[in-house]
Amino acid sequence: MAKDKYEYETIKIQKDPDGVTWLIMNRPEKRNAMSPQLHADCSDALYHLATDKDVKVLILTGAGDAFCAGQDLRLFFRANDSKPAERFAAGENSHNWRWTRLSKFPKATIAMVNGFCFGGGFTQLIACDLAVAADDATFGLSEVNWGIIPGGIVSWNVVNAMNSRDAMFYAITGDTFTGKEAARMGLVNYSVPAAQLREETLKLARKLAAKNPATVRYTKEGIRAVRGMSEAQAADYLAAKSDALRFNDAEGGREESLKQFLDEKKFRPGLGNYVR
Ligand code: ACO
Repeated sequence: MAKDKYEYETIKIQKDPDGVTWLIMNRPEKRNAMSPQLHADCSDALYHLATDKDVKVLILTGAGDAFCAGQDLRLFFRANDSKPAERFAAGENSHNWRWTRLSKFPKATIAMVNGFCFGGGFTQLIACDLAVAADDATFGLSEVNWGIIPGGIVSWNVVNAMNSRDAMFYAITGDTFTGKEAARMGLVNYSVPAAQLREETLKLARKLAAKNPATVRYTKEGIRAVRGMSEAQAADYLAAKSDALRFNDAEGGREESLKQFLDEKKFRPGLGNYVR
């Protein structure tokens, strides 16, 4: 059952009236580094937000001047080095929210990268369907700088989201790059001046919130799923997915839009959404 109130120690949940909900990593004094508590909080929040009817689009961002400074080196790593049970629990929650729950979230998700994004922070960045960055945000695969590899599933994610030369370059040099460069590489959809980041991200979120939610969900699930399939598997999967959408679309979008275009001449599918 969804919660009415979301109160957490390390994150903030804010609901806008138009269906846009914010999940804000909220340890600005630690540049939103991910502690075990933050992993537990995010894991729980995403579980409830997934079925919360108020939530049409989720924006993930960080408080203060960071998106996320990666795993908390003190609390995630050193404090648990000799505590296998705690380390295991933190690792489970860490993977669960940043990948399992976020990449399968049933509504559209946008990462709004407002500042530093390092190491493990790339997992939730790439798990989101879309990403918008401030031009001057700072990205880095900093693992090599302190003696570890981009583990978890960071390496797997970056070779999927970046071209292999860029992924290798930034992984073995540890060099930083800006939001503008992230956009050029296709790691984020686009970047904007920091002063416009919130407004531009909201504009995108509201566009998605206005669309048929079942169609958005089935589309994003389809785009993700076909990547690992052969052409024959994809064709079969997409045919079944299309049928499933017609069955599960509570507002019957396909039939309604055929009527609006063919009979009523009320809208043009090529140029925008049907009237809902
Ligand atoms: N883990 C633990 N604490 C952190 C982390 C982190 N990843 N990042 C920042 N902090 C803490 C600092 O220790 C400091 O705490 P303190 O005030 O108690 O001393 C506070 O956040 C502010 O950090 P500063 O370094 O003073 O802030 P500044 O703005 O100068 O630099 C930056 C920010 C560049 C993010 C720097 O803190 C940094 O390099 N952090 C580590 C980034 C990183 O490599 N993360 C790990 C990636 S690998 C992985 O995730 C598996």
